[in-house]
Amino acid sequence: MTQDSEKRSILVTSALPYANASLHLGHILEHTQTDIWVRYQKLYGNNCTYVCADDAHGTPIMLRAEELKITPEELIASIYDEHKSTFESFRISHDNYHTTHSEENKILSERIFNSLKSKDLIAQKKINQLFDTNKEMFLSDRYVKGGCPVCHEKDQYGDNCEKCSATYDAIELEDPISVISGSKPIIKESEHLFFRLSELKKEIINWLNKANIQEPVRNKLNEWLEGELRDWDISRDSPYFGFEIPNYKDKYFYVWLDAPIGYLASHLNFLKKINAESNFESLWKSDSSLEVFHFIGKDIMYFHTLFFPVMLFESGFKTPDGVFVHGFLTLNGEKMSKSRGNFISAENYINNLDPDYLRYFFASKLGRGVDDIDLNLEDFKQKSNSDLVNKYVNIASRTARFLNKDFEGILSKNLDQPELLEEFREKSKIISDLYDGLELSKAMKEIMSLADKANQYIDTKQPWVLIKDENNKELVHAICTTSLNLFRIITILLQPVIPGFTQKAFEFLNEDNISWKSMETPLTGCKINEFSPIVTRIDENHINNLLGN
Ligand code: 2FM
Ligand code: ZN
Repeated sequence: MTQDSEKRSILVTSALPYANASLHLGHILEHTQTDIWVRYQKLYGNNCTYVCADDAHGTPIMLRAEELKITPEELIASIYDEHKSTFESFRISHDNYHTTHSEENKILSERIFNSLKSKDLIAQKKINQLFDTNKEMFLSDRYVKGGCPVCHEKDQYGDNCEKCSATYDAIELEDPISVISGSKPIIKESEHLFFRLSELKKEIINWLNKANIQEPVRNKLNEWLEGELRDWDISRDSPYFGFEIPNYKDKYFYVWLDAPIGYLASHLNFLKKINAESNFESLWKSDSSLEVFHFIGKDIMYFHTLFFPVMLFESGFKTPDGVFVHGFLTLNGEKMSKSRGNFISAENYINNLDPDYLRYFFASKLGRGVDDIDLNLEDFKQKSNSDLVNKYVNIASRTARFLNKDFEGILSKNLDQPELLEEFREKSKIISDLYDGLELSKAMKEIMSLADKANQYIDTKQPWVLIKDENNKELVHAICTTSLNLFRIITILLQPVIPGFTQKAFEFLNEDNISWKSMETPLTGCKINEFSPIVTRIDENHINNLLGN
């Protein structure tokens, strides 16, 4: 158990959602995984802070605002409010939710850029790019289509061909067309700034050797590191919505330069809010004891494992202690797709069901792997009903009625089988390691096997038979008190995953301020409240409503 002296100080982040669209369940998967880990760390007694922000820069945001005939600032402000409230409704407990379009982020991005520049790690190179003369803007790969220069398939994006998988430069496309205006772009030269990643392989490997990285991710990284690393283009020409690069007129930081710096900026903003701004420098200095972990999806590994750690290292900041990568979310075995009707918006979910069902389902699927997670709705319904209702809540509902009815809601001073509680506490050590090591599905299995044990105990004791004989009253009291204490330990173990349901359970148990340590002291001789259902069953209608049927 954590003593004050060995309390870890941890900073945790989830990837920053783009500020141009509503959140989908894929975002919720990532933030739930992070939130469970954060809640576990806090419950265990560690000093843990969870920060995030909206990723507010880049061409898609600029164009979306134009489409809506509002300014980018107006767009990101309204999306910010929406994202914040959606996350809250899923019980995601960010300690701070900021935006990358902030003063803190501007200052930190400039500072990091200037440090890199002073170390001669920024190169200037002229490049040729497609330019839309109607819109007067350079076109990034996603905004231009044309024929594949290799297999000649029409209608391919500017970076790679969906048919033959060839990768190429957008200027090689045959008969290119601007996706934005439909006009034929010209080739135009422009000066760009590059981060000299090609010279930093040794530094990346040094970081990788000490970071907490899942095995499949490490393998992928090693594969990348075996090849040549290319310098990274970190500038974009005007018009662009972002931060202008100091001393380079009309040049902006590419959104992926300032986005991860947004993690530091959100942390700084949090420290300001708690009047601890002066701690920022020492917390982020290279030898700081603060542990920093980033949770991300597998599509953005490159940025978080190659660019970001060395950017921090070379500018004198501490580097991440771990990057935790998860797979994508599929729905009923297929890619989520709005147009094909295989889609659940975060809003539609929350209008129909309590978030804790989904949080539990995700926890029961997530491990240290990077495989995709499938939200099979039948499985989801079945798991919620069998684990949460039939196993977990059943322990309380089967025994609470005796305590409420026959013992005025007062727990016995005696336990029937204290060694059973001891066995549960012993198991909690394994479960705590599983939580800490991100093995959530294994942790859920262990917890459910404890729930099975508690139910078996009640089955064996049969308090409903014993109570018929007045002489057994004391014994029934002790049995029900023991059962409720088993329920209580399981409730503490499940708190990081289902904080809403367990909150109701703690209200029933008349308790607050729970910590992992609370399971060491059983509840005896005290008053509990009237039992009311903590989790109800999911039925077919709920499932149909999720899909909007
Ligand atoms: O892929 C995305 O959705 C990005 N907005 C994630 C940014 S994470 C961090 F680096 F800022
Ligand atoms: Zn092709």
